[in-house]
Amino acid sequence: MTFDVIYLRGSIAGVFSVLQHASCPENIVFHLIVTHHHHHHHHSDDLRRTITSTFPYLNFHLYHFDTNLVRGKISSSIRRALDQPLNYARIYLADLLPSTVSRVIYFDSDLIVVDDVKKLWDIQLGDHVLGAPEYCHANFTSYFTAKFWSNAAFTASFKGRRACYFNTGVMVIDLWKWREGRYTERLEGWMRIQKRHRIYELGSLPPFLLVFAGDVEGVEHRWNQHGLGGDNLHGLCRDLHPGPVSLLHWSGKGKPWLRIDSKRPCPLDSLWVPYDLFRHSSLFSDS
Ligand SMILES: *[C@@H]1O[C@H](CO)[C@@H](O)[C@H](O)[C@H]1NC(C)=O
Repeated sequence: MTFDVIYLRGSIAGVFSVLQHASCPENIVFHLIVTHHHHHHHHSDDLRRTITSTFPYLNFHLYHFDTNLVRGKISSSIRRALDQPLNYARIYLADLLPSTVSRVIYFDSDLIVVDDVKKLWDIQLGDHVLGAPEYCHANFTSYFTAKFWSNAAFTASFKGRRACYFNTGVMVIDLWKWREGRYTERLEGWMRIQKRHRIYELGSLPPFLLVFAGDVEGVEHRWNQHGLGGDNLHGLCRDLHPGPVSLLHWSGKGKPWLRIDSKRPCPLDSLWVPYDLFRHSSLFSDS
């Protein structure tokens, strides 16, 4: 997971939810990715203290993500929050984490897990590098611009694949296969093309679709009940998709902690509240 001041309340809730529902919480290692804020020299020390005082027995490692790595590669999207460099950290997990780590689950900071995460960890990836719930009924066309679809050189990338949408907020990744296949470079390649040709409107999602869609190990939909933050523009309340729920994800514009603080929560935000350890914290008063 990434750990940023802006989303810290969400990240802490996410960690707490994983621990609460795990059969063996002591077996879980958290890899937390942070950025240095130039106005705040001891940011990662503060963060380490915050984490250890909240979860005294948490098995975790902090990694510093150099935002300069992506700053020049990001093109603006329809929602400013999507342009934050830390949003792109998921592309660099294979570089950030030690080479001894063979598998990782990436989680966004606006979700809670309500099931034993071991079930997700244990899925077989087969020949795939990445596992995630797939949504083949979503309108895949809409994730790319007309400029993309009218260029045969671009659309050829989907040849031989039945490309389906998947959400990049929950991904099981084989880091060894990722490194072997140089997937970071492949994703960066599409980001360079985006800079020149504007082939999509969203942030870090479309490069993942371009590289992986149709080549993903399908995970049960229960592991990413996404969209609870509403759409990207208005953040209206959304309901759960039909079916069982192992993970609730407030992707979209609205975040439960913001809506709760503004006294305009959506009905499902009440499910996030029990994991909100920082409701009365002074941690946010200076940020
Ligand atoms: C899918 O999205 C594209 C682009 O936004 C749109 O032109 C098309 O009509 C949509 N198709 C369906 C079936 O909704």
